[in-house]
Amino acid sequence: MDYLAALKDGHHAGQEKLTLLSRIAESIDGQQEPAGLRGQFQEVFNFFDGEMERHFRQEEKGLFPALVSAVGRAGVVSAMLEEHHSIWRAVDAMDEQLSEIETASSADRKRIAQSVKMVARHIAGLLRSHIEKEDTMLFPLAERVLSQETLKDVATEIERQAGG
Ligand SMILES: [Fe+2]
Repeated sequence: MDYLAALKDGHHAGQEKLTLLSRIAESIDGQQEPAGLRGQFQEVFNFFDGEMERHFRQEEKGLFPALVSAVGRAGVVSAMLEEHHSIWRAVDAMDEQLSEIETASSADRKRIAQSVKMVARHIAGLLRSHIEKEDTMLFPLAERVLSQETLKDVATEIERQAGG
């Protein structure tokens, strides 16, 4: 599979996980005892720390610099990079809330669970629009301005980094 196709594939995986994330978030209100929330979100966090982290790194080390060389730093590339940072900030915030809830009194647990719900919704929204922008703007731009040879070089470099 070529490099762009592999990134597009990663977006499909991302869409599935954000659907799961939304589903769990929307189930919080119906839960009597929201203490075990970290466990409920475990699969989603495994995705953030695994596939998503790898995917972002592949874009940041490969596609983004190649696009910057071709079209400059301004515009969609820096916007996508900034969105990666926003997503990580929200994931960190959610991680902190899930830790907080484990030691909170039962009165506080409900309140923190509401914050978890809000930040989970926020992450799902960020990811959804981020994937859409990359699919509809970034990848078509890459297909227009990057040669097959450049894309091949980028893929080789990423494989080299992953191996070392
Ligand atoms: Fe992406």
